[in-house]
Amino acid sequence: MAKVKTKYVCQQCGYETARYMGRCPECGMWETFVEEVVSDDKPKTSDFVVDNAPPPMLIKDVKLGEEIRLSTNISEFDRVLGGGLVQGSLVLLAGDPGIGKSTLLLQTGGELSKSGKKVLYISAEESSAQVKLRSDRLKINTDNLYIYSQTNFELIKKHILEQKPDMVVIDSIQAIYSENVQSSAGSVSQIRECCNELMRVAKSENITMLIIGHVTKEGNIAGPKVLEHMVDTVIQFEGDKYKTYRILRSVKNRFGNTSEVGIFEMGEDGLKEVLNPSEIFIKEYDQSQTTGSTIIVTNEGTRPMLVEIQALVGTTPYPNPRRVTNGVDFSRVLQILAVLEKRVGLNLSKQDVYVNVVGGFDVKEPAADLGIALAVATCAKDVMIDPHTAIVGEIGLSGEIRAVSNIEKRIREVEKLGFKKILIPATNRVDEKFDDIKIVKVKKIIDAIPACISGGGK
Ligand code: TYD
Ligand code: MG
Repeated sequence: MAKVKTKYVCQQCGYETARYMGRCPECGMWETFVEEVVSDDKPKTSDFVVDNAPPPMLIKDVKLGEEIRLSTNISEFDRVLGGGLVQGSLVLLAGDPGIGKSTLLLQTGGELSKSGKKVLYISAEESSAQVKLRSDRLKINTDNLYIYSQTNFELIKKHILEQKPDMVVIDSIQAIYSENVQSSAGSVSQIRECCNELMRVAKSENITMLIIGHVTKEGNIAGPKVLEHMVDTVIQFEGDKYKTYRILRSVKNRFGNTSEVGIFEMGEDGLKEVLNPSEIFIKEYDQSQTTGSTIIVTNEGTRPMLVEIQALVGTTPYPNPRRVTNGVDFSRVLQILAVLEKRVGLNLSKQDVYVNVVGGFDVKEPAADLGIALAVATCAKDVMIDPHTAIVGEIGLSGEIRAVSNIEKRIREVEKLGFKKILIPATNRVDEKFDDIKIVKVKKIIDAIPACISGGGK
């Protein structure tokens, strides 16, 4: 009879131990251990041995251009992937429930199958009929898209090997289970086992795998970190699910840049690409009421984008003033407020401060600092910002404005959208000539305030 062993696995980080523990020694989390049974009657050798890798060779002899990229025909998705899906790679698409992961991958499957690729969509969460209803809505009608509603991993694997598709979609990794692991679907061991096997199949059969993963309440990809380490690419689908815009961001990519974003709009018949994001993010920018609202230009990957930042500052009724941020890093905002207090003399100790990025976009770049600072400062002082001014610059602790990358590209984008002035760091060199926009260089945060108000700047 097979020997049955049990182990305790931390559901947060995947740490394993033989005895139950209250606190994980690896990640420090409490009450995260779950008992899992590992049966020993697994086949000792796996069904395939991956031996199609070339033997060791000199790096200078390695031939480039061997990776084959499949275009998804969705240019925003292709760009985030670094120029299309690499054949035989594993891509993890993570995001909140209801954000549109299944929709995006079904559309991608539809597009790929249209170009003659064989696609197998494995739905572990919905029945074939439900997926069919969705595909009707998305107007997908091709001969090469197969749907298989199944949660048992061994059966899934069998069909993948029989069908040999070019691309497989797994919707989702948390909903499938392998019989080799006796814990419930979605547990760390299950996810690890299934993902490992999927990777082996992907690499040995040269099948591209797109795997959907859920996100926990804390915003992490549910399951162990090892999942992120195993796959080649991790893509996050973000945005406010009550709004129509969705942002695709690559957070890990073995085959490309990780700072690219793709913007989509969720409509009646699926996701549509947004090719002019600057225009949509500042669509509702009110040019007559502009205290506490600034336009910044952030550089996402290869593309600059205009985004509106709003701030609200008001006397607090509470003993401790509140700081609330949405779309910008909380501690970064605290640092900017500290600089405003110390270097500009703005007293915010009795003021609530709210900072919000319009449109559900997440601004990660420090180049947004100056825009945030000026939104807060103009709201606190109740002065009007010139509505035709865009702002870019990082703020240092002594109140200096630090240089940002790709300045000319940013200026070009601002000029294209009809802005008349841009505040940039004094240390940034601009060699290109711009005729339709005035470039104002600022050295210190204290100089930036008069420069951005209506009629200000030299
Ligand atoms: P879904 O792809 O199921 O999200 P996920 O797989 O990430 O959980 O879709 C999410 C939402 O999108 C759902 O509430 C319905 C909406 N939706 C549309 O608005 N239009 C459409 O064409 C489709 C297919 C979905
Ligand atoms: Mg889904």
